[in-house]
Amino acid sequence: MNPRFLALVLPLAGALALSACSTMAVAGTPSPTAFVPSASAASAEPTAQATAEPAAEPTPVTPTPVSKPAPPPDTRSGKALNEPFTVDGIVVVSKVHRLSSSYVPAWAAKPHGLHPDVHSAFQELAAAAKADGAPVMIRSGYRSYAAQQASFAKAKKQYDDKTARLYFAEAGASEHQTGLALDAWDGRNRGTAFARTEQASWLAAHAHEYGFIVRYPQGKTDITGYAWESWHLRWVGTEIAAEFGPNSSLTLEEYLGLA
Ligand code: DAL
Ligand code: ZN
Repeated sequence: MNPRFLALVLPLAGALALSACSTMAVAGTPSPTAFVPSASAASAEPTAQATAEPAAEPTPVTPTPVSKPAPPPDTRSGKALNEPFTVDGIVVVSKVHRLSSSYVPAWAAKPHGLHPDVHSAFQELAAAAKADGAPVMIRSGYRSYAAQQASFAKAKKQYDDKTARLYFAEAGASEHQTGLALDAWDGRNRGTAFARTEQASWLAAHAHEYGFIVRYPQGKTDITGYAWESWHLRWVGTEIAAEFGPNSSLTLEEYLGLA
């Protein structure tokens, strides 16, 4: 069985197919057409939608220059797609693999707009983090295309162009539009300040145990196109996250052979 199927079959299969996930993964026959857009994006929690990505500090760390993105792996690359680009069932949304404004995940109206499995995995993670003395919460989950557009526009006014593009995705290039990623925080420290918290260290060491990876590791800007974001967690499922392990600097692009 290719463990990558487990990454996401679940998001791809949508809410109705959730209970069938294991079966589908075992059978290795994920349905690529089961991504049912929902018209209810607007009803996602206001805080989740309205909250922009944690702002970079006024004087952010000197970022690694962005080099050209990985070569497009298929002819759809570079175009905004109406459903996420996937590799072996794993959703990839990036500066290279973009979503169109019409893509709204079926779970957009669920708590924080997250896929229910992602939300419950985070709840487990949060309970463990709290027990270890490093309580974390969700600062931002799903963000619609429009919300991301507003977030990016705001960042462009607040920061220079290079900084804005390192920390804020353009609309269509954010994983937040999938409801499979979230920003965690301690309730106080945003952006680069979060990296210095106990919570950030805890997430780096333990997030994989709950199926999350730190999607934009330190020193990998040339691959991801984004600065190190200690707070941005992407859910890939526990089997794949285990392959990343603790304190990993592996990127999803490298793991999937896209870089
Ligand atoms: N901060 C990440 C790149 C986003 O805006 O999705
Ligand atoms: Zn984020």
